Amino acid sequence: MIAGHREVEALFEQFEAATPERQMPLSRLICKALNRHIILENELFYPAIRDSLDQPDLLEVAAVEHEVAAVLVRCISEDDLPAARLRAMMDVLRTHIAHHVENEERQIFRRVRTSGANLERIGEELRARATVLG
Ligand SMILES: [Fe+2]
Ligand SMILES: [Fe+2]
Repeated sequence: MIAGHREVEALFEQFEAATPERQMPLSRLICKALNRHIILENELFYPAIRDSLDQPDLLEVAAVEHEVAAVLVRCISEDDLPAARLRAMMDVLRTHIAHHVENEERQIFRRVRTSGANLERIGEELRARATVLG
């Protein structure tokens, strides 16, 4: 999961530095990576850790953050977006994702490590599902 975060952060860096022609394809790549990551967390990771987490409300917040991200991703994926509008939405998405990733890594993942959840098994399931998602 953490590798997924670093991957998306690197893509956002590339987007910032890219020429306007490269920004559109890069935004598509970022949206695809985010969708994939959010599906893995919503369908597999969050349900797997929910019962062993001492503060399950953290997952409610994270789920809302996923929903907000999904709305932005849908807007960004629209055709014929003016370049300035695309950059503005990507900027908002980047800030939102940075905040969400901080919540996950500082609050949720930290707790999961000491929660007694079977991380090895969860990791295997995540890898298997990631392969299916492609
Ligand atoms: Fe995540
Ligand atoms: Fe997430």
